[in-house]
Amino acid sequence: MHESQSNQRVDWPVLDFANAIEELATQHYAVLPNFLSDAQQDALRRELVACQQQGLFHAAGIGRGQHHNLNRQIRGDSICWLEDDFNTGRHYLAQMDTLRHTLNASFYLGLQSFEAHYAHYQAGSVYQRHVDRHRDNDARVISSVCYLNADWPADAGGELQLFNAHDELLLRLPPLGGTLVLFMSADMPHEVLASTQSRYSIAGWFRRDEMTYALV
Ligand code: OGA
Ligand code: MN
Repeated sequence: MHESQSNQRVDWPVLDFANAIEELATQHYAVLPNFLSDAQQDALRRELVACQQQGLFHAAGIGRGQHHNLNRQIRGDSICWLEDDFNTGRHYLAQMDTLRHTLNASFYLGLQSFEAHYAHYQAGSVYQRHVDRHRDNDARVISSVCYLNADWPADAGGELQLFNAHDELLLRLPPLGGTLVLFMSADMPHEVLASTQSRYSIAGWFRRDEMTYALV
């Protein structure tokens, strides 16, 4: 997706993730308000909308792909995976790659890659409580969501609710533009509440894919 009209200059500075590392270490999640500048958010949201207009979005799936209507009640977003050649999205991917190295250096996680998609929740759609690590695939280690909503009234809903492994509510986060949230993929159930307006974000995962072989 090449967005020709976006020739406005947007800076993508190298970031200091020290606070995020500290929060992840102590509480298994981290919230970074104003992670993106207004210009960065706007550029990403413009690219998202351009992708939508080009038909690059599709309904997000859960598991098998049958029972479409039931699935849409469980997970209502539409998504488009970011690629390295996206004009704006590649800058976001590059920043997350810096974060991946920082996470590896801090926690020895051996994270090998980062994958992310743009997401659009129409008013009224939800993502019911789930964990991001699938039972048959433990590649996803840390989840990230970055919100791209220019304007989010306090009563617009759409909060992310994050729970611990005992199902205690840890966080209820409105999707304010520019906020980045990180949490462990394996043991933190979470859900997206219905909103009264379109909700835009980038959801992404730091992955560890390697096969490990026991020496015998
Ligand atoms: C997801 C997810 C949360 C959010 O995409 O898996 O849980 O706040 N997103 O958008
Ligand atoms: Mn999730």
